[in-house]
Amino acid sequence: MKKVFWLSLLGLLVLGLGSLAGEKIVIGHRGAAGYLPEHTLAGYAFAYALGADYIEPDLVMTKDGVLICLHDIYLEYTTDVEEVFPDRRRPDGHWYAIDFTLAEIKRLSVHERCRRDGRPYFPRRFPVGKSRFEVPTFTEMIELIQGLNKSTGRDVGIYPELKRPSWHMQQGYDIAAALMEILDRYGYRGPDAKIFVQCFEADTLIRLREEFHTELPLIQLVSASPSYWRMWKREGLSEIARYADGIGPNKSIIEKNPDYVAWAHELGLLVHPYTFRADSLPRKYRSLEEELETFFFTYDVDGVFTDFPDIAVRLLEQRELVP
Ligand code: G3P
Ligand code: CA
Repeated sequence: MKKVFWLSLLGLLVLGLGSLAGEKIVIGHRGAAGYLPEHTLAGYAFAYALGADYIEPDLVMTKDGVLICLHDIYLEYTTDVEEVFPDRRRPDGHWYAIDFTLAEIKRLSVHERCRRDGRPYFPRRFPVGKSRFEVPTFTEMIELIQGLNKSTGRDVGIYPELKRPSWHMQQGYDIAAALMEILDRYGYRGPDAKIFVQCFEADTLIRLREEFHTELPLIQLVSASPSYWRMWKREGLSEIARYADGIGPNKSIIEKNPDYVAWAHELGLLVHPYTFRADSLPRKYRSLEEELETFFFTYDVDGVFTDFPDIAVRLLEQRELVP
């Protein structure tokens, strides 16, 4: 990808956009995944330029203990690992990031998320196999965002998700400890830091609070899978409120029970549902704008994870202008 192109694009966009709607936030999901391959520096820069308030890296670890930005513990859905390292898959058929050093992973090219048969999940998105994108490290991502914050004067946050911490621990890697060390090194400290740390595993978030004594804002992700049923109830939310500052529920949980947001708010929990996509709309909505309008202003959520941050930013800006 030509750097000049991205810098020009940033220059055009970065100063003119930005969420103005105060407390409601827009989270660039995996960067700006609707427009550029997920978890690439280009995608993070584009999400920044489109006005996201926070940008989300999902985090997994390499064989040599480096945190990288990747959604899966596997490499084959979003990189060309099958071509570059055809013999390095495990017997279960997957290429695990943790079996590769960072130097090896840097040889890979990131592409749009594809199914095992090579078809892209979202056919209207960035063309597969075009341009060259690397898998970023977490520190490269932070340095990009902090650098843009310096050069633009904005204060965009990061919203890292620890992927499968207990699985990493079984493999002999403490991904939570690695995260805490990096965040401290880059100045993310205390309850007012421009960051949310998210995880599906409650034990990991509790560990961050009790063992690492972090005061950083923590978000408990809540899946729509039946194993999370307890967190769909008031009692479950009360338990979450003991260690977290908010929840990141699958948006379908709120559709099924709009009181869920009020329950969370009564407990002082923020609500940031996932994931809002213009090219994967629930049937009941005619547009992403309509879906976002409903979640922001009828259900009253505090923020959204979206692959299309510009659409959510524009909606909040328009609301701000209404007398
Ligand atoms: O982290 C919020 C949302 O991203 C969770 O889903 O699978 O996209 O990481 P996933
Ligand atoms: Ca995520």
